[in-house]
Amino acid sequence: MVALALLAGALAAAPAYAAIAQSFVPPAANPSSTSTNYVGKNNGTIHNSPKVTGKAFDRFIQIWLENTDFATAASSPTFQKLAQEGLLLDGYYGLTHPSEPNYAVAGLGDFFGMHGDSFSAFPKNTSSVVDLLDAKNISWASYQIRYSIYPLLAIPYALTAASTDSLSISAPPDYVRKHSPLILTDSVAGVPERALRHRNFNDFAVDLNASALPQWMFVTPNLVDDAHDSTIDFTSSWLEYWLVPLLQNQNFNDNRTLILLTFDEAETYTQPNQVFTLLLGGALPQQLVGQKDPSYYTHCSTLSTVQANWGLGSLGRCDTNKTLANVFEFVANATGYKNNGLTSNSTKLPMTNLTGVFPGYANTEMWTPVLAPNVSAVGAGGGSVFVYPGTNTSLTSWSPQNLTAMGVTNPISIDPGYDYSNGSLVTAAAAPSSSSSKTATGSIAAATGKSAATSFAVPAMGVLVAAAGVAALL
Ligand SMILES: *[C@@H]1O[C@H](CO)[C@@H](O)[C@H](O)[C@H]1NC(C)=O
Ligand SMILES: *[C@@H]1O[C@H](CO)[C@@H](O)[C@H](O)[C@H]1NC(C)=O
Ligand SMILES: *[C@@H]1O[C@H](CO)[C@@H](O)[C@H](O)[C@H]1NC(C)=O
Ligand SMILES: *[C@@H]1O[C@H](CO)[C@@H](O)[C@H](O)[C@H]1NC(C)=O
Ligand SMILES: *[C@@H]1O[C@H](CO)[C@@H](O)[C@H](O)[C@H]1NC(C)=O
Ligand SMILES: *[C@@H]1O[C@H](CO)[C@@H](O)[C@H](O)[C@H]1NC(C)=O
Ligand SMILES: *[C@@H]1O[C@H](CO)[C@@H](O)[C@H](O)[C@H]1NC(C)=O
Ligand SMILES: *[C@@H]1O[C@H](CO)[C@@H](O)[C@H](O)[C@H]1NC(C)=O
Ligand SMILES: *[C@@H]1O[C@H](CO)[C@@H](O)[C@H](O)[C@H]1NC(C)=O
Ligand SMILES: *[C@@H]1O[C@H](CO)[C@@H](O)[C@H](O)[C@H]1NC(C)=O
Ligand SMILES: *[C@@H]1O[C@H](CO)[C@@H](O)[C@H](O)[C@H]1NC(C)=O
Ligand SMILES: *[C@@H]1O[C@H](CO)[C@@H](O)[C@H](O)[C@H]1NC(C)=O
Repeated sequence: MVALALLAGALAAAPAYAAIAQSFVPPAANPSSTSTNYVGKNNGTIHNSPKVTGKAFDRFIQIWLENTDFATAASSPTFQKLAQEGLLLDGYYGLTHPSEPNYAVAGLGDFFGMHGDSFSAFPKNTSSVVDLLDAKNISWASYQIRYSIYPLLAIPYALTAASTDSLSISAPPDYVRKHSPLILTDSVAGVPERALRHRNFNDFAVDLNASALPQWMFVTPNLVDDAHDSTIDFTSSWLEYWLVPLLQNQNFNDNRTLILLTFDEAETYTQPNQVFTLLLGGALPQQLVGQKDPSYYTHCSTLSTVQANWGLGSLGRCDTNKTLANVFEFVANATGYKNNGLTSNSTKLPMTNLTGVFPGYANTEMWTPVLAPNVSAVGAGGGSVFVYPGTNTSLTSWSPQNLTAMGVTNPISIDPGYDYSNGSLVTAAAAPSSSSSKTATGSIAAATGKSAATSFAVPAMGVLVAAAGVAALL
């Protein structure tokens, strides 16, 4: 009963604004130009450490679009044209619904039971791909587009997710914090030299011209360019304006650049969550251009592929799950990694269209602390699992608690108050202290005791064992 109710709620929360028709207006003369239409001035060229050579590529650029079924993207002439210039990943899936948990996976390797789009601040011991990149001095940045060119859309993002941690790029209406994978963890948002690697599109133009784009990049278009509040035609126009010329720009795409163009999730929740995904860029072997790769991939593959390429450590979450984290095959071939052989035609692929039913730190009704990563996991890069200093590596299971029933606020929803509007970190003194509030993790534990009588092991990736976990719980 409970699971059905949760599911029904999640279905009702499906995107409701995805088809506001507008016509695309170029925000700047070209992708390498700054513009007053971009919110936020450029703050100087980004500073990067020297290039670290990878086995199959030296730069990985991810561009994430929104909420579109495979067939819808496949019907667009722009996507058809791009598919001729790249490799169509015919077996690539989102991991859940709605949007934000999919972004969490791209940065953190798990969605921790998240099944909504609300403000989420994970504690500092929630490691991310940044910890793995920084360990090898591989430069990275997240470029987030926000324009002032479009009229404010009458959508209450400010109430749901647009954030009050006023990193200057995080305000409504058309850029939202929930579409930025790394800012979700305080190990990035609370560390100035990391938080400030979130840059606007005036910064992008400057970094591009200076040939200073970093080696790992995440690009979040705004809510109209990414098809969330528009149509596939609108998004195609944006891609024609922005991506198509950049594919010819050596400062963006040289023969060691790999580009992933994907969608966070499919629009139709009752389908398996397959999303139209292309690999582009000069690092793609010539014989693969215009072809299809049928291998089974998920957003976890974006982590395992990067780990394989640079011989990185892992997060010990879905990035090390052998079912979900196939390495893009040409990279697997170049690095000697063995994939599992699944394709989108395989029977018994995991159901990755489920929502609401997984325990974790982001699920208020099945709450657990942020559990330790699986320290014995081995990822595609072969390195060790990153463990944030002070992590309790014995904390690998927890009996889920219903914070709603307990009248306790989920700590994930508490804004840590990081403010970078002056170019440096100011922390608002807002968050209540743990001793005086029912919101702190300690109180949650204390309120219910630490009895493990009803406990079951919550594995590194909630999605993986959903069915078993829920059965045990209910
Ligand atoms: C980058 O170079 C292009 C072409 O030379 C120029 O049009 C553009 O204004 C430059 N952008 C910046 C931010 O300097
Ligand atoms: C990364 O850079 C720092 C500072 O320059 C240096 O101390 C460290 O040895 C470098 N690490 C690697 C793996 O190159
Ligand atoms: C890749 O580009 C570099 C720099 O432009 C060039 O020296 C090299 O020959 C190119 N390699 C291939 C395989 O095209
Ligand atoms: C998930 O997709 C499958 C088809 O693969 C469908 O049968 C199922 O009903 C979907 N689940 C939900 C919750 O929509
Ligand atoms: C799945 O099977 C269909 C029909 O046999 C085939 O056309 C398609 O290429 C297959 N796709 C994959 C990803 O193997
Ligand atoms: C990877 O290697 C296998 C075995 O040699 C080969 O069949 C396959 O075509 C290669 N795939 C790619 C994408 O290069
Ligand atoms: C942790 O990783 C090891 C090694 O891959 C694996 O055998 C084990 O099942 C994993 N444990 C969990 C709880 O996922
Ligand atoms: C992670 O940090 C939170 C907040 O400090 C703490 O409650 C939790 O127990 C920690 N998790 C682990 C695995 O150490
Ligand atoms: C670490 O986690 C284990 C398992 O939940 C717990 O028994 C132990 O008390 C924790 N250690 C600390 C220092 O909190
Ligand atoms: C949690 O508690 C609330 C309020 O009592 C209830 O409505 C909800 O069904 C519970 N959820 C679960 C998963 O037990
Ligand atoms: C941005 O400007 C601030 C001063 O306002 C400076 O401290 C910071 O280093 C600059 N950041 C970058 C990336 O240039
Ligand atoms: C990996 O994911 C699969 C598919 O969701 C799941 O069945 C399996 O339990 C997961 N493995 C681990 C070790 O968590």
